[in-house]
Amino acid sequence: VANNFQETHRPQFHFSPPAKWMNDPNGMVYHNGEYHLFYQHYPDSTVWGPMHWGHAVSKDMIHWEHLPIALYPDSLGYIFSGSAVVDANNTSGLGTKENPPMVAIYTYHLAEGEKAGKIDYQTQGIAYSTDNGRTWEKYKQNPVLKNPGIKDFRDPKVSWHEPSKQWVMILAVADHVEFYGSKNLTSWTKLSEFGKTYGGHGGVWECPDLFPLTVDGKQKWVMLLSINPGGPNGGSATQYFIGNFDGKTFTSDNPAKTTLWVDHGTDNYAGVTWSNIPQADGRRLFMGWMSNWLYADDVPTDTWRSAMTLPRELSLKNTPQGIRLVSQPVKELSSIRAESADLKSQTINGEVDLTKSASFPVTLSELTVSLEDIDKSKDLGIELSNAQGQKLLIGYEPASKQFYIDRSKSGKIDFSKEFPKKQTAPRLSTGNTLTLQVFIDVASVEVFADNGETVMTSIFFPDANYDQVKLYSKEGAIQLTSGQLTRLKSIWDQ
Ligand code: FRU
Repeated sequence: VANNFQETHRPQFHFSPPAKWMNDPNGMVYHNGEYHLFYQHYPDSTVWGPMHWGHAVSKDMIHWEHLPIALYPDSLGYIFSGSAVVDANNTSGLGTKENPPMVAIYTYHLAEGEKAGKIDYQTQGIAYSTDNGRTWEKYKQNPVLKNPGIKDFRDPKVSWHEPSKQWVMILAVADHVEFYGSKNLTSWTKLSEFGKTYGGHGGVWECPDLFPLTVDGKQKWVMLLSINPGGPNGGSATQYFIGNFDGKTFTSDNPAKTTLWVDHGTDNYAGVTWSNIPQADGRRLFMGWMSNWLYADDVPTDTWRSAMTLPRELSLKNTPQGIRLVSQPVKELSSIRAESADLKSQTINGEVDLTKSASFPVTLSELTVSLEDIDKSKDLGIELSNAQGQKLLIGYEPASKQFYIDRSKSGKIDFSKEFPKKQTAPRLSTGNTLTLQVFIDVASVEVFADNGETVMTSIFFPDANYDQVKLYSKEGAIQLTSGQLTRLKSIWDQ
C-alpha cells in the first residue's frame, strides 16, 4: 500500500508497517550489505490475526525499503516469531557454497489445533531464500522440530556456536527456555533447559535470544527473555540474564530471584538482536516492538498499528551491583541529525522553556542534557507539551532514586485504563551528575539515562504534536551544565 506516512501519530523516524497490524520484529539478519527486518504482520486488519512475516530492508537500520510479505500461513499454521541466519557453509544443503542460503526458523501456530483443544499446536518450521531474501521457499519436510506436548513452545532464535561447531536454538517453552542443537538446521536434538526457578515469572516466557558479549576482556553470555504479563510497569517487558553457555547448558551468574530489565518503559517488547553482523563491525544490535499487549490492539491509530524501537547497540558494564546490560542508540542515527542548538549552562529552579533555544521546531528532536546537583531537587525532568496543554513528563526523583514517565495528561489515554499509569525505573548510577539523552518522535520517547544504564521507552498520542520542551526542578535548584537540542529529519522526507 503506497502512502506518504503522514497520518496522525505516524512515527517519523521509527520503522512502522505501511498498513495494518504489526507486532514482534522477526528474523533480523544482516546479509550482503542489507539489514533485514521481518515482522509479525496481519495484512487484513489493524488487530492481531493470522500471522505472516512482513519484510523490509535497510542499509543503515534507519531508512527502510518495504518489501512484499515474505512468509504466508500454510496448512501447518500461522507464521509466529522466529529468527534468520545465513548458512555460510551450506550446512542445510538448501543453497550452495557459492550462494549460501538465508534460512528463517520460525514457529508454526496451528489455530485449528488450538481450537480443537489440542496442546501440541506449536511446532518449528524453516524456510530458505537464495535471492537475498526476496523470495522464500518453505522446507518440504516441515516441521523440523515437533511439539513434545506443551502448549507454549515457540520463538526460536538460532545462532552458530563455533566452539561446539553446531547451530544452537534457544526456544521459549511456557515458563523456561530450552536449547536444541543441530549440524544442519533441519534435525534438532535437545541440549538442556534453563529458567524455571530464575527471573520473573509473572507471565509466559517468549522471544528469547542468546549471545556473547565481552566485558573488561572477559566473555559473558547474555540471554534476553520477553515476558507477558509481568513487566516492571505492567504487561509486556524484556528481562535479561548474564552467565555462561558451554554449547550445551546456560548457567546464570545472578541470584535466582534477580530480575533485570532491558528497558523499564512500557513499550519495548519481544526485542532480539541481528544475526550475521560482520566480525569487523562486531556490534550487538537490538530492536524491539514499541508497544505492549496491555493495549496494543487499542491504540488510537487508524490505518496501521505500532512501530519498532530505534535500533540500539547492547554492551555490558561492570557496576558496583554486578555486570549490567547497557543500551545505546546506534551511530547510524547521525544520518537524520539536522541543525543543533547548544543549551546555555544555567540554574534550573522551577521551569525553563528550552523551545526558543532552537531556531527549528522541536517536534522531532533529540535532547541531551547534563545536570548537576540533582540531589538538591525534589523532582526534576523534561516536559514535552502542546498548545492544548497536553504533556508528557520524563522525570527523576532523587529521594527515591527513581526515574519516571508520566503520560497521564499526554493526550488520548482513555482507550485503556492501564495506559495512563505512571511508569518508574530505578537508577543504577549513583552520584550527583545525571545525563539524559531523549529521542522525541511524534508518538514516542526513548530515554537513555546515564549513558544507557537505565532505559525507558514509552508511546503516547497527543491531539497535536508536542512542540514545546521545558526543563523543570521542583523545590530546589539544579545546574544544567551542558546540553544540546538537535532537530531530527523524517525518514520519509528523502
Ligand atoms: C510475542 C508473541 C510471540 C509469538 C507472537 C505471535 O509478542 O506472543 O510469542 O510468536 O507474538 O504473534
